[in-house]
Amino acid sequence: MQTYLVGGAVRDELLGLNVKDRDWVVVGATPEQMLALGFTQVGSDFPVFLHPKTHEEYALARTERKQGHGYHGFSVYSAPDVTLEEDLLRRDLTINAMARSEQGDLSDPFDGRKDLEARELRHVSLAFKEDPLRILRTARFAARFQPLGFRVSAETMELMRSMVAEGEVGHLVPERVWQEIQRALHENAPGTFFQVLRDCGALDVLIPELSPEAHFSAAINALQRIHARNGSTAERFASLFCTLDEPGGTARAKALKAPNDCQQLARLTMIFIPTLQQLKPLQPDTRVGAGSPSNTLLALLEKADLWRRPERFEGLINVLECTLGTTNRLQLEALNNAAKAASGIDPKMLMDQGFSGKELGDAIRRERLARISQALCSSLS
Ligand code: CTP
Repeated sequence: MQTYLVGGAVRDELLGLNVKDRDWVVVGATPEQMLALGFTQVGSDFPVFLHPKTHEEYALARTERKQGHGYHGFSVYSAPDVTLEEDLLRRDLTINAMARSEQGDLSDPFDGRKDLEARELRHVSLAFKEDPLRILRTARFAARFQPLGFRVSAETMELMRSMVAEGEVGHLVPERVWQEIQRALHENAPGTFFQVLRDCGALDVLIPELSPEAHFSAAINALQRIHARNGSTAERFASLFCTLDEPGGTARAKALKAPNDCQQLARLTMIFIPTLQQLKPLQPDTRVGAGSPSNTLLALLEKADLWRRPERFEGLINVLECTLGTTNRLQLEALNNAAKAASGIDPKMLMDQGFSGKELGDAIRRERLARISQALCSSLS
């Protein structure tokens, strides 16, 4: 029985990066031997065990064969006669298919080290095709290692294109796709993730609304700005939707099964942007009737539920600054001023004046509108 460090830990150590998780592969052992050594088995699909002390993952060397579409049709073969090389062969990228023995020797049958040096993300073998999630993983590694100069190799891009053309990406379950998107949004160059997906055609399947050039470049620019500000997952996700229309974009965010905070911020972004782009805050705002800038701004603040969700509104402002910041500065200023003006109303004061129930709600709204109108007028003078 031999134990090897595998995958990301070996790759990151060779790149001189911090190693976070360590995964191990065990060759020449049976599940019974592992249990006798005090390991606990996790999951029922694969022979994976947790070390009794370190709780790191130890997987028995295995081969995998795909038998159907998507993720469900795997048959796993694990036995003491499966070799290290066979286990490495079923892995996604050559840079992830190296192993280090307990004695410190590197096993690198697929030239992962050479690809690390050449900055190439290359599939190990045609077994890559057996898990379409690997397309997203490859895009994510491209996003992570972009600052180091890594690129997807031409052959791997070709293979990914053929997998997309065969309809494999459509079989992925949304939960797995979301997990990859969520991680990718926080990689070093998140835009690269979407660029790789677009290049291989997967974006047309996953978020087709983003594929046209105008939408794509606006989304990627916005995402890069949010990334530079260290924005939250929801802010990063919402920035992708900056040019999309609300009904279509909302349906897409839902289909991706993004968490609620991400869906909501994306929806607000799609509502706010076109409305703000049409807002003319510098017109004297004597009317406060329907269609006046004050009314429009109040309606937006109500949609955002500013008073009950101030932190979400802050996130929204962040997204808007990264999308409208250069073209619609005046409108953004008006929105910020309106939010400030409409925030300091004390309902108790109005209650003391005798308002209650629906009348109290109406009075608060009138007061907010008056204050927004005043704030806009004073920004004119
Ligand atoms: N792996 C694979 N195909 C997948 C998932 C994982 O081949 N769909 C293999 C790769 O060899 C990978 C290893 O399993 O290196 C561990 O997977 P994981 O922990 O998800 O990735 P890491 O490479 O460790 O990367 P990260 O730094 O993101 O954890």
